[in-house]
Amino acid sequence: MKNLIIKAKETHSLTKEEIIALLQDESINEDLLKAADEVREKYIGNAVHLRGLIEFTNICKRNCLYCGLRRDNDNLKRYRLSEEEIIDFATKAVEYGYRSIVLQGGEDDYFTVERLTSIIKKIKALDVALILSIGERSYEEYKALKEAGADRYLIRIETTDTALYEELDPGMSHENRKQCLRNLKEIGYEVGSGSLVGLPGQTVESLADDILFFKEIDADMVGIGPFIPNEDTPLKDASVEGHFTLALKVMAITRLLMPTLNIPATTAMESLNKNGRVMALQSGANVVMPNVTEGEYRKLYALYPGKICISDTPAHCRGCISGKIQGIGRTISTTTGSHKDQMSMHKE
Ligand code: 5AD
Ligand code: SF4
Ligand code: FES
Repeated sequence: MKNLIIKAKETHSLTKEEIIALLQDESINEDLLKAADEVREKYIGNAVHLRGLIEFTNICKRNCLYCGLRRDNDNLKRYRLSEEEIIDFATKAVEYGYRSIVLQGGEDDYFTVERLTSIIKKIKALDVALILSIGERSYEEYKALKEAGADRYLIRIETTDTALYEELDPGMSHENRKQCLRNLKEIGYEVGSGSLVGLPGQTVESLADDILFFKEIDADMVGIGPFIPNEDTPLKDASVEGHFTLALKVMAITRLLMPTLNIPATTAMESLNKNGRVMALQSGANVVMPNVTEGEYRKLYALYPGKICISDTPAHCRGCISGKIQGIGRTISTTTGSHKDQMSMHKE
């Protein structure tokens, strides 16, 4: 099995069967995570990119069985930030030194292209990279948002298992999800995808497919998060056992296969393990997305339970995460952390 890790480290290529073997073998975990850390350092260095995350609406027209924002969850107070609030949080994020901003929300049709265009233009005037994470939209809408100034787009595939996806995301089409990813690439966004690890009914074969899928679509970013059952959803009784370690391993193999990729240490990882983001940063990750939403909204953006930082201020999180990053000998990036720049940096 050690030979497989060496092969992945040197060739950045593994077959599906080899990925499955690595995911199933618990005895190699330490070596695997370490190899991913070494590949990260060799290709993209020690800098960690910080992206200020604004959770601007918890209203969602979808009904994903795993997610607390699903439309049938009546047990959640809903909110939408005003344009002024969004710009205020973005302005403060820039003051904290963040060079990129993520606008994330449920699929909320109130935010039309027109409303988003106005917000995007104001944020872009702050001289940051702007990343959207607002779900499925038409080709024309994606194009208009790109023309308004958005640089990157995050949309997880969640799982490459079509039947599982369509069972867990009722009314949604897996084909359309993949089409969204193709459209975004074609329009010229840097594209982020990713998946949930530990979904009920998910197989290790499909996790291997997820990793190969990220490579196939030539993703620029990949966010891997453990699935955490939410009390207010139909999957409330699902298990959480083993999800953290498995998510770390999926992330590490993704790094071995895609050495210059942007990989966040996800918030969900830290929600399951109090040192989760640092462990992720030492197993292949190179990005953290500190929350810059203020006040009660943080708590209301309730995807899953145990979400970190819900009572903390953006300033506190900035100090907290900087300390953790520097505490493990890493530095805070001063660039916007674009994948294209990272690829050319390695070629030099
Ligand atoms: N546990 C972990 N992650 C979740 N997400 C939604 N619900 C959960 C959950 N219960 C993730 C999805 C989505 C992102 C916004 O949050 O992967 O893409
Ligand atoms: Fe909506 Fe996204 Fe949650 Fe699905 S995962 S219910 S699309 S916020
Ligand atoms: Fe929010 Fe540590 S990053 S408290």
